Amino acid sequence: MSNERVAVVTGANVGIGLETARGLAQQGYRVFMAARNEAKGQAAVADVQGSVPGAQVELLKLDLASLASVRAAAAAVKAKAPQVHLLVNNAGLILSERQETEDGFESTFGINHLGHFLLTTLLMDSFAPGVRVVNLSSEAHRMSKGLDFDDLMRSRRPYQGMPAYADSKLANILFTRSLAKRLKGGGVAHAVHPGVVRSGFAADGDVKGAFAVLVKLGGPFMLTPAKGARTSLHVATSPDAATDSGRYWARSKPKRPARAAQDDAAAEQLWSVSEALVGSA
Ligand SMILES: NC(=O)c1ccc[n+]([C@@H]2O[C@H](COP(=O)([O-])OP(=O)(O)OC[C@H]3O[C@@H](n4cnc5c(N)ncnc54)[C@H](OP(=O)(O)O)[C@@H]3O)[C@@H](O)[C@H]2O)c1
Repeated sequence: MSNERVAVVTGANVGIGLETARGLAQQGYRVFMAARNEAKGQAAVADVQGSVPGAQVELLKLDLASLASVRAAAAAVKAKAPQVHLLVNNAGLILSERQETEDGFESTFGINHLGHFLLTTLLMDSFAPGVRVVNLSSEAHRMSKGLDFDDLMRSRRPYQGMPAYADSKLANILFTRSLAKRLKGGGVAHAVHPGVVRSGFAADGDVKGAFAVLVKLGGPFMLTPAKGARTSLHVATSPDAATDSGRYWARSKPKRPARAAQDDAAAEQLWSVSEALVGSA
């Protein structure tokens, strides 16, 4: 048996994801660094290889806005690695205008939640005993009033970026709770708030108006991406996250999420609706 520990990190080409991949490579993981843009992904792989001697990292092409791409990525991992020990669902965005994914889902929900839902469920039969799944959420989930299951695609109400983002980050925690119940062999799932991090997030024209101004003004007070990766790395590797699956973490400590994020009925409803939407039931 090989001692290889395999990790998959989404959104690994920049920001928190890149620093998470680097940290895992430093700890000896073989890391699949998932990125939607091949050139950016290759540059990130080279960056980690340049900074971590002997790093075992490789690019995984993954566009979470395409279910076909998610399926291809899961198949590529399975073809190359016998088991997955760690999955960090890190990629995420906020959009000021309503957009749709290749499959017709509202993009914030489609990318931040549904793409990761499908990736996770497809990889589940490759999960090693004691697998850890780390889902990047946000304190922004507290701004959500709860998921509107009658309009998950936000086609019936005026679109606003922040509420769409808050709902998607609530979905990340609800998904974590229902996943925690389904992992076998001592596997755990946790959700993470990384802190307020000076990354590419909300900085490249994806979001406009007051929020963009806030991000600019807050820049000097924000964490570096390396510090922003600390809670993800802690939950991915520390013994104190090996048990009590389904928790929400901030500053490398468990934290109680909003009441809406503790709603197990909503978590189960989200699981079955997601299965139906991505066709993985
Ligand atoms: N930054 C913060 O203050 C903060 C706070 C709370 C939570 N978070 C969460 O932390 C996570 C990482 O954020 P970050 O700050 O590191 O942001 P970032 O620098 O903007 O990185 C986001 C990553 O997600 C990728 N991504 C976006 N759309 C994708 C798609 N369709 N398919 C595949 N990958 C896609 C991006 O790829 P491209 O480079 O190709 O766009 C990038 O690699 C997110 O889930 C975010 O919600 C961040």
